[in-house]
Amino acid sequence: MIEDNFYSNLESNYKVTYPEQEGATYTSLLNFSDEGNKFRQRWYRYKEGYSVDLIKILINEYNKNANGIILDPFLGSGTTVMAANELGLKGIGFEVNPFSYFLSKCKLTNYTDSEKMEFKTAAVDTLIEAEKLSEKKVILLPKLSIAEKVFNPNIQNYFMAIKEVIDRYNGSENVKNLLLLGWLASLETISQYRKAGNGLKKKSLSKNKIDNILLVTEIIKGNYDNIYNDITGNTLKFNAELINDSSLNLSSYIDKESISGVIFSPPYANSFDYTEIYKLELWFGSFVKEYSDLKKLREISFRSHLNGLSSKTDISKLDLKTIPELDTLINVLQTKELWDKKIPIMLKMYFSEMFELLDRIWESLECDGFCSIVVGNSAYGGIIFPTDLLIAKYAETIGFTVDKIEVDRYIITSSQQYHITLNTKKYLRESVICLVKSKK
Ligand SMILES: C[S@@+](CC[C@H](N)C(=O)[O-])C[C@H]1O[C@@H](n2cnc3c(N)ncnc32)[C@H](O)[C@@H]1O
Repeated sequence: MIEDNFYSNLESNYKVTYPEQEGATYTSLLNFSDEGNKFRQRWYRYKEGYSVDLIKILINEYNKNANGIILDPFLGSGTTVMAANELGLKGIGFEVNPFSYFLSKCKLTNYTDSEKMEFKTAAVDTLIEAEKLSEKKVILLPKLSIAEKVFNPNIQNYFMAIKEVIDRYNGSENVKNLLLLGWLASLETISQYRKAGNGLKKKSLSKNKIDNILLVTEIIKGNYDNIYNDITGNTLKFNAELINDSSLNLSSYIDKESISGVIFSPPYANSFDYTEIYKLELWFGSFVKEYSDLKKLREISFRSHLNGLSSKTDISKLDLKTIPELDTLINVLQTKELWDKKIPIMLKMYFSEMFELLDRIWESLECDGFCSIVVGNSAYGGIIFPTDLLIAKYAETIGFTVDKIEVDRYIITSSQQYHITLNTKKYLRESVICLVKSKK
């Protein structure tokens, strides 16, 4: 059993601010929901993203190098690099999911005047051509098992014809990418599925109203208009280097002591698999063509999920990084009845990867550099895994100073965690961990 004071003892080592306390400054900035109308952020609603404003505040608070570089090992929709660029700093980002990488690339590209003009015309022509094509040809669906159920039959062929016209586009590559992004950004609205929890759910009939091609055209046209207005209406110069690889390979790309700040939100240890939740975008956008492609992606993604693990997965030969508090939690977890036997393996791998990444981040940071992490804690079998405190503890052992941890949101417990006590409930939360590389 884990004693309630296990958590308070661990927490007592740090300056922790709670949302209801004075000095909690990031609380309202944690999520993406307010980004819907913002410059380039509105091109695709990346639910798991945070806000540009949060990143700007963190950079202004911690960055000591006016010519520095900000790194995000989990780029997602590119928010960190966008904010860094808005403040005149270069940004570097790693992203393993090819759809998310593509999205960030589109958002963080400088378009030439001729590309802007070309996009305006191509956006109109694509939709006209697609209507003609859809009357002549039945377009093949991707090999995804649920592909035939994704769209209302009245619109399926037209929607797929738009993709085929984009695939055939032989103008500028950057323009072609924007055409595809506008199309992909409409996918969830148009489809009969929605992202929910750890996967996709069929929409209820009342929420699934996209059943004629006029509506489809209107939605995609709206996306194209937003894109056009944003590429023409702002003169911001992007300075972004994006890498479509796992951030665990960071040291192959980044020189030691070359980064002034690292800001990120990793996948949380909550069984959430980004390749599952972005399945429609991955398959329909042709980023994966076979199930083996998807499997490979899952294997190189952070171990925040159970997909690809089996109860026979042998981790005994791996040299996993850990800390005593994590071992205690996992030992107790192993005595519990869990909804999946692989959860302890997943957690061991998750934290080992996180600690490995912190090692690499430490090496990449300049002296006086900083690292801010937005992360959520999780619970299994009634045991809370305080990822924020565990990260802080490991970071300290490798030389970081934990400047503060700001708790910004409590996580609503699901029914399986009903036996979590009132005293420990406050550890189920999302926080911002602020680390500073101390002088040697
Ligand atoms: C919480 S999201 C980041 C959201 C981002 N902060 C934003 O504002 O859009 C985590 C991201 O990490 C990516 N990811 C998972 N494993 C990765 C790995 N090993 N290397 C790089 N990115 C990874 C996921 O695909 C996902 O996009």
